[in-house]
Amino acid sequence: MAEIKRIGVLTSGGDAPGMNAAVRAVVRGALAFDVECIGIKRGWNGLINNDFIKMDSISVSHILSSGGTALYTARSEEFMTEKGRQKAAANCKLLGLDGVIAIGGDGTFRGALELSRLGIPVIGIPATIDNDIGCTHYTIGFDTACNTAIECIDKLRDTMQAHERCSIVEVMGRNAGYLALYVGIAVGATAVLVPEIEWDLQKDVIEKIRNARIVGHTHFMIVVAEGAGKAYKIGEQIRQEIGLDPRVTVLGHIQRGGTPSARDRECATRMGYHAVKALTEGRNNIIIATRSGNMVELPIEEALQMKKSLQMERYEVMEAMASYRH
Ligand code: F6P
Repeated sequence: MAEIKRIGVLTSGGDAPGMNAAVRAVVRGALAFDVECIGIKRGWNGLINNDFIKMDSISVSHILSSGGTALYTARSEEFMTEKGRQKAAANCKLLGLDGVIAIGGDGTFRGALELSRLGIPVIGIPATIDNDIGCTHYTIGFDTACNTAIECIDKLRDTMQAHERCSIVEVMGRNAGYLALYVGIAVGATAVLVPEIEWDLQKDVIEKIRNARIVGHTHFMIVVAEGAGKAYKIGEQIRQEIGLDPRVTVLGHIQRGGTPSARDRECATRMGYHAVKALTEGRNNIIIATRSGNMVELPIEEALQMKKSLQMERYEVMEAMASYRH
């Protein structure tokens, strides 16, 4: 087994709260195993452009509690090309990197797989607010994003209640409804629309508002996942159908920021440590995933083929809470 002496760490794709905690854990974990760590800046672009910094214990001493990523992030167009990846692999060799730990989502892992095919050992750490990675129960950043969205919607509810209004809130999640469903349950939404389940305006929105009104509610909260529909369009349809005057809020990138929650810091720290440990023990080209709270390792290629379906039990709970039977 080749000795691991120096590794690189990078963050790529959309940032997620807790990425910094993972970077810190990789650096501190590496030092614990007597391995040097280099921080590669701006995702895969940093490997292509030799954009890096030497990291030590002090350089990560204040980042555990901050959102964003101290290493910056990017979605690299150049890395999508064979030429770009060849350049990145050559730079790994130039820097003497015995492995690269890539923190990000499935796009990041597709890049990692390609780099591994050029002979560079890689390990992926799942971090995305979407929680849409098939191989893992949990992705770093999801909990904080849920909490941020909930805090915003609780505030919206105050003013919706005061004016007896209907609110349509669009949350992120790309093609996944995880964020919308968790948030919808936690804020007691009148209706939640997710991309995984086909929805009908009459049955899933209008009827729910009507039933809620009949049992005495005078304000309504509709949560829509960005992959399920456009909040402004749904607001307009509600106006035309039942004459309400909805207010639309697209939460947007606010969901990606903020100090990471306890869950995200703890998970990121464990994943970062386990990634380094795996490399030093000769395991690579894997993703560190969670299964019922435990850390597991899966080959990247296999992991990328796994699909994550929405948990129907959660959907059932949301539907029951929003049934407004009278
Ligand atoms: O994948 C994270 C995410 O925030 C998605 O929820 C969203 O669709 C996308 O990234 C937004 O990407 P960008 O920051 O490039 O606008």
